Amino acid sequence: MSTGSDRAAAGPGRRTVLLSGLGGIGVLAGAAGLGGCTSSSGTAGASGASAGAGAGSAADTLRDASGHATARAFRGERQAGIIEPPQTYAVFLAVDLPTGADADSVRRLLTIWTDDAEKLMSGQGTLADLEPELAAVPAGITVTIGVGRRVPELTGAAVPSWLAPLPAYKIDKLQERWSGGDLFVQVCANSPTTVAHAVRRMLTNMGSLGRVRWQQRGFREPFEGPGIPMRNLFGQVDGTVQPDVTGSESAMLWIGSAGPAWLHGGSTVVVRRIAMDMEVWDRVDREARENAIGRHLGSGAPLTSPADAPPTAAADLDAKTPLGFHVIDDGSHLRRARGDNKEKILRRPYSYDDAPEVDPTTGRMSGLSNTGLIFVAYQADPMTQFAPMQARLAEKDLLNLWTTPIGSAVFAILPGAKDGEILGQALFG
Ligand code: HEM
Repeated sequence: MSTGSDRAAAGPGRRTVLLSGLGGIGVLAGAAGLGGCTSSSGTAGASGASAGAGAGSAADTLRDASGHATARAFRGERQAGIIEPPQTYAVFLAVDLPTGADADSVRRLLTIWTDDAEKLMSGQGTLADLEPELAAVPAGITVTIGVGRRVPELTGAAVPSWLAPLPAYKIDKLQERWSGGDLFVQVCANSPTTVAHAVRRMLTNMGSLGRVRWQQRGFREPFEGPGIPMRNLFGQVDGTVQPDVTGSESAMLWIGSAGPAWLHGGSTVVVRRIAMDMEVWDRVDREARENAIGRHLGSGAPLTSPADAPPTAAADLDAKTPLGFHVIDDGSHLRRARGDNKEKILRRPYSYDDAPEVDPTTGRMSGLSNTGLIFVAYQADPMTQFAPMQARLAEKDLLNLWTTPIGSAVFAILPGAKDGEILGQALFG
């Protein structure tokens, strides 16, 4: 049953919502106390939300049967959504700024999104939320925000050279509708309803301050137990070999003092949409599939280990067959992705499986599937870490027979917001 305090938590009344429908809450940000980081009501609302972070209600605990954390702390040195084990559902979206955007309008958008992210991660509805009940099961939600090149250009902050499209690769068939963007939002949670509601709130509250450029919806299943990563839709165990990002290899992930001041404690993300040709994959036998990846399909163990070994078993890249060929094929994805093991990236991939595209001439769906991987990689520098690896795979990788990159974008991931700050605070001098 709804109480008076529930209604108060739902945010401003109907009049404000109607107004926001006309002009966008972005336009109303000043009136709503979100006009800038110095606004007392903007930061007060935000810190009020943080008090609940990590607490989670009894209802959350009952409904989040997966046992994952329900609410998460928002404030800190770094944003959430990067080193946590990936949640089951995700939406990735890129936003373009309008032609007349300036530093002030970017600041207003980041102020609104900071408040939204903090509230959502603590299980509260956002500003002007008419369905705060949909936020009440946070399901481990994380909201992670990044920016493209245009943002530091508008605010006068230093623009790193890597904040640009990746070089073109010969395997690419990139489409505008999945590429580029001025801002990036990643929303992940263990409930698809929680994700959908969060995305809707953030986009509604964005108002006329931005326009969605692309939106990608992904999932990770099945979960086979602790320590076992997901299977992608080729059935491969995916995400096994990862750098030690919370220990000895954390420098590969976070931007330190050598980077621009506004990015200290931040990171970078590369989002590649990679189509997987399921119909052709279906025609390949199991041995050829395992050869292409260099791993057993069942266990995910390298082909140089017994088929029932764990996926983490060490690969022996020197082992040869009686005929003198490498057991782990020279063109296998394992060997080509690893290279000399110098570059490191943190992979956080999600599958997509959308309805087949409609053929404009017949008006009917074409093919049986529209399936692939939203390849999401975090690293400190995309040009020295991601790009050489991708170049090696474009040159030779048996997986290329069935996979085609159709989207690509690079963003700087903002450092975390400390108490009283908005995300991207240091962009504004
Ligand atoms: C649809 C495209 C792709 C699929 C289906 C795929 C699948 C896989 C699978 C099954 C593994 C083995 C298990 C593991 O360690 O996670 C793997 C490993 C790996 N992949 Fe991919 N991958 C794809 C694209 C990429 C791309 C674009 C990159 C980077 C540019 C990449 C980088 C890596 C790396 C670094 C490894 C670990 C290699 C090692 O053993 O050291 N992958 N991938």
